Amino acid sequence: MGRVDVLLGLQWGDEGKGKIVDVLTPRYDMVARFQGGPNAGHTLEFAGEKYVLRSVPSGIFQGDKINIIGNGVVLDPVLFREEVESLFNSGHPLKDRLVISRKAHLILPTHRLLDAAGEKALGAQKVGTTGKGIGPTYTDKVSRHGVRVGDIEGDFEANYKRAKERHLGMLRGMGVEVPDLTQAEADFFAAVEYLRQFRFVDSEFVINNTLKSGKNILAEGAQGSMLDIDFGSYPFVTSSNTICAGSCVGLGVSPRAIGDVYGIFKAYCTRVGAGPFPTELFDEDGRQMAERGYEFGAVTGRPRRCGWIDLVALRYTIMLNGVTKLIMMKSDVLDTFATIKACRAYRINGVETRDFPYSIEQEIEPIYDEIPGWQCDLTAFDREEQLPKAFLDYVAYLERELEVPIAILSVGPDRKQTIVRG
Ligand code: GDP
Ligand code: IMO
Ligand code: MG
Repeated sequence: MGRVDVLLGLQWGDEGKGKIVDVLTPRYDMVARFQGGPNAGHTLEFAGEKYVLRSVPSGIFQGDKINIIGNGVVLDPVLFREEVESLFNSGHPLKDRLVISRKAHLILPTHRLLDAAGEKALGAQKVGTTGKGIGPTYTDKVSRHGVRVGDIEGDFEANYKRAKERHLGMLRGMGVEVPDLTQAEADFFAAVEYLRQFRFVDSEFVINNTLKSGKNILAEGAQGSMLDIDFGSYPFVTSSNTICAGSCVGLGVSPRAIGDVYGIFKAYCTRVGAGPFPTELFDEDGRQMAERGYEFGAVTGRPRRCGWIDLVALRYTIMLNGVTKLIMMKSDVLDTFATIKACRAYRINGVETRDFPYSIEQEIEPIYDEIPGWQCDLTAFDREEQLPKAFLDYVAYLERELEVPIAILSVGPDRKQTIVRG
């Protein structure tokens, strides 16, 4: 029996999942996305080229491995087409290597309008979504009104029309003036036609048969555990289960099939969009992280908020996911810092806690440990033996605090700038 190893973000997304899925793909027979949609932006760099993937799994650049868009994903045909065409134009045809679950839900043009209208109605309380229609599409799924990829094989127009009319009613109810949809619908239907060249599959069978034949699968998470609909900083979260359990429902595999759980985090912390962020920095240190880490959203281009690493939140997400191996990214971004801080505990109403509280939308004072910086350029190193002692001391400190080994260290955006320890 093969196994499913899961790779997922432990913070608020953008940890570097795309890069590491690409690095790990040669070890697997298949790569599968299990949740999220084009709100994700997964960046990969190799051979001087940079790619940002949104709906396409990050296993497509390593040989002819099959990549799966699982049932837990929400798919926007228009953005998918753009993504696939741009990959084709750069010499990466996907048609024979990418399959799509019939049970994945479709993002319609009106879902995007509902996303925008919902945010507008929230005013100052807005979530700061990516505007891709993610929330409304998952809402339709749960309220049993969704349109699925498999519907394309049936009377799709009728399904589409029913959903659209419902959405228009909702928009009118919100007092939104609905724009002319002629062009958006033409693009949408053209993209749905385009989608037909891909194989629609009952991916739960594809996946379980693959496992049965002794092959292994890498499940690629999107977003991060702090954006999980159940356990994240609700309501400032995304609309899917980003944690490891999401891979079981998002692919149709038993929890017993899960092998390693790779938890990926940055050597510091970022967040894009609104919502609480206890270790956020508004000073020169934060500015340096943003600049050195080039912290701008891969999808929206929005500046990402930066802060010190939050071990309270990380212990929580490691617990939720049952992480077996940690992966630390963007170590090089801290190269210039004389001192590095790590939030070991929170102080809330004068009481120190190491446990993540029900809500972080309250006055929280981060309690920091200070670790001496390494103050040298890590980006050229590719073996552990070359790494400076001060850096390895930071790694050892994190392993003690988090009680899980750090198996991979990333020291730059390129595929090659990766040190695999075990
Ligand atoms: P994802 O959504 O988790 O795949 O992450 P993103 O692609 O949104 O953001 C990660 C960003 O950091 C991308 O621009 C990567 O190219 C870049 N990156 C990944 N690993 C490293 C690293 O070790 N060092 C540096 N400096 N950049 C990295
Ligand atoms: P990757 O996979 C970082 C954030 C948005 C917003 C909230 C809800 O690249 O790590 P949504 O559009 O999902 O309804 O927005 O979630 N968000 C992300 N932040 N990385 C992502 O994906 C994100 N996907 C959504 O900024 O705060
Ligand atoms: Mg991203």
